[in-house]
Amino acid sequence: MILALETSCDDTCAAVLGAEDEICSNVISSQGIHARYGGVVPEIASRHHLELIGAVVEDALSTAQASLSELDLIAVTRGPGLVAALLVGFATAKALAGAHRLPLAPVDHLHGHVAASLLGPRPLQPPFLSLVASGGHTLLARVTDPGAELEILGQTLDDAAGEAFDKGARLLGLDYPGGAALERLAREGDPQAFKFPTGEQLAGLNFSFSGLKTALLYRVRELGEAQAELHRADLAASYQRAIVESLAIRVQRALSGTGLQRLAAGGGVAANGALRDRLATLDAELHVPPPELCTDNAAMIASAARFVHVLPYPDYLELDVYATGERAPEPR
Ligand code: KG4
Ligand code: ZN
Repeated sequence: MILALETSCDDTCAAVLGAEDEICSNVISSQGIHARYGGVVPEIASRHHLELIGAVVEDALSTAQASLSELDLIAVTRGPGLVAALLVGFATAKALAGAHRLPLAPVDHLHGHVAASLLGPRPLQPPFLSLVASGGHTLLARVTDPGAELEILGQTLDDAAGEAFDKGARLLGLDYPGGAALERLAREGDPQAFKFPTGEQLAGLNFSFSGLKTALLYRVRELGEAQAELHRADLAASYQRAIVESLAIRVQRALSGTGLQRLAAGGGVAANGALRDRLATLDAELHVPPPELCTDNAAMIASAARFVHVLPYPDYLELDVYATGERAPEPR
């Protein structure tokens, strides 16, 4: 039985994965506080993690009807993410594991998003292409061995897809994080009403979203306040379509280029219905986890923990978190 913790951004998460790889609990406490700042404030996120983590872990254990003494392993996100936020989950995991002499599995957050597709009654069988589109990352990876380093085929050159959703949402007067709200607004609009760039002319498998956000800004200015307000849903639908197309174009290129026949999507943006529908039209068997496994959660961290190098007690006590893709050196 695995207890996993995830605190890389603004969600305080704990989950228990059972002996048969079933999700016994998956607790996610979202910190709504950041909406008023229009983005996640690292120090505030960290303080909230500290206040919430104990209760979230207890909730995960009691929902799973499990006790600490029944655990075989503790898993935790080590990076990338906000250092102050990561530290709370990491220190808690080390303390729990250390106190019970349990092994610890340090997990890469992106590996977690990919591993969300390896859960459930019908986990996806490698090899497959994985699209991870979240608030902090957007990448395409080939997964042949779920325990190996991700083989990155393409990634964003500037903003992440979720960031594009959030910035667009903000321009349309929606609260942070605006992805889900923009999707709701887009349902009432016409995706063909406005033309926004999909970066189709950018060859290869890398993504770029910063021009799209600027295009929306200019379009809103051109329309003027009253017209922009009148066409809000059309703007949302057209903007969402451009993000979805931008993702789908690269995914299809990667499928054609690699010959892979299975496709997994993960990360918060994969919760988007329009993206799911579009990916389903591509030349691959599509696997998208349910929305609560797409956005940040600890069940995906537990899933990845099954494939990573596990450190026995006390080898992990000196281990540190990492903020970016550059991993900190292993302790000697
Ligand atoms: O994976 P995630 O929970 O956290 C990160 O690792 O970043 O992703 C959060 C991102 C946010 O940018 C949020 O706006 C976006 O995912 N998101 C969505 C939807 N739900 C969440 N974007 C579009 N449509 C959605 N339904
Ligand atoms: Zn994430």
